[in-house]
Amino acid sequence: MSELINNYQSGYSLGQSFYTNDDIYQKEIENIFLKHWIFVGHASQIPEHGDFFLFEFDQESIIITRTKTGEINALLNVCRHRGSHICLEKKGNTKSLICPYHAWSYNLDGKLLAARNMNDDFDKSANGLHRVHLELIGGLIFISLAEKPLSLKSMQADLKDTFDLFGFDKMKLIKQNTYHIRANWKLAVENYQECYHCTPSHREYSEIHAAALPPAKRNQHLEAYLKTKTNAVRTRSCDCYFDLANEGEEGYQYSREPLLPGMKSGTAGGIAASRLLGNITDYDGAASDLMIGPLSFFLIYDDHMVGYRFMPLSIANCVCDLFWFVHEAAEEGKDYDLKELTWLWDLTTQADEEIVANNQKGVNSHFYRPGKLSEMEGFHQHFLNWYLKVLKP
Ligand code: FES
Ligand SMILES: [Fe+2]
Repeated sequence: MSELINNYQSGYSLGQSFYTNDDIYQKEIENIFLKHWIFVGHASQIPEHGDFFLFEFDQESIIITRTKTGEINALLNVCRHRGSHICLEKKGNTKSLICPYHAWSYNLDGKLLAARNMNDDFDKSANGLHRVHLELIGGLIFISLAEKPLSLKSMQADLKDTFDLFGFDKMKLIKQNTYHIRANWKLAVENYQECYHCTPSHREYSEIHAAALPPAKRNQHLEAYLKTKTNAVRTRSCDCYFDLANEGEEGYQYSREPLLPGMKSGTAGGIAASRLLGNITDYDGAASDLMIGPLSFFLIYDDHMVGYRFMPLSIANCVCDLFWFVHEAAEEGKDYDLKELTWLWDLTTQADEEIVANNQKGVNSHFYRPGKLSEMEGFHQHFLNWYLKVLKP
């Protein structure tokens, strides 16, 4: 592995083994997916006591619950008896979690309530479900499977005003969609990092967002936007993502990206999609990009937010989950039309599903060799630098 990593040539795509070698995949699970913060869902998915949903990837299954006291918990879906999955339904409401195998039952905070016919000296208090680190950012639920998670403190402090302005604690999730991609997870994440492919692959997106343009043209739009901007949204970027993150801290990134002139939101024709988020007072012709951890991304328009999360199912298959959020007071049919609001990113992600799967087919070929990256793939290069660093034995 060290040899493979050392052989990587900066400015180029990765070699084939990174996408096909099982040892590398196992290392990624350990060093990335079991270490970093992952966005799993939103508090509005479990509003009532006893509500739960599962978050799953590769071999892991985690139960997100709402307890009697209203607290949100993340528990490993692995019975402390002989390891069976306890919760088999993807979501629901329950008073307790009862293992289907020998019926040990657990509270919604993981405490073992009952274990049939076990001896008196069996210590129930030492056999609760393993709890997973959980952090709320507004209503967004993040988990970390690490023993000692990376710190989110400076990110929370740096972006607090931005979260408040966009009303992160006043949003509701109105739709979630899962897109199955027949490719290694990295190809899907790499694709999300760059907009070099936007013009040929996403006509609709390119008619709304300036990011699809070559850097010089995109920068002209950014300058024009900064001169005329009218609302209080933060425009200062913070680049603490991937290889630029501080030691011991989770990577994050924030930037404000201009839309094309006349565009208000990510809809057909750029028209308004819903009521303005949080304390935003008017449309200012831009959208904010936010990344928290290496796998979770958010695009915040002035009137709705789209979340994207990439997770592996196996070495050759991954999923991209999309989440659409609006102001919690917005009403369907009155403030927003679900179809109009989800149109752009549903369409764009379906196209990505196809181009990424085609990318994998070519990467599998005997004749694939790493290719030169363009100037529009700079963010992608940061991802690759970070990736090789975290993979190092
Ligand atoms: S494996 Fe769960 S009760 Fe036996
Ligand atoms: Fe794309």
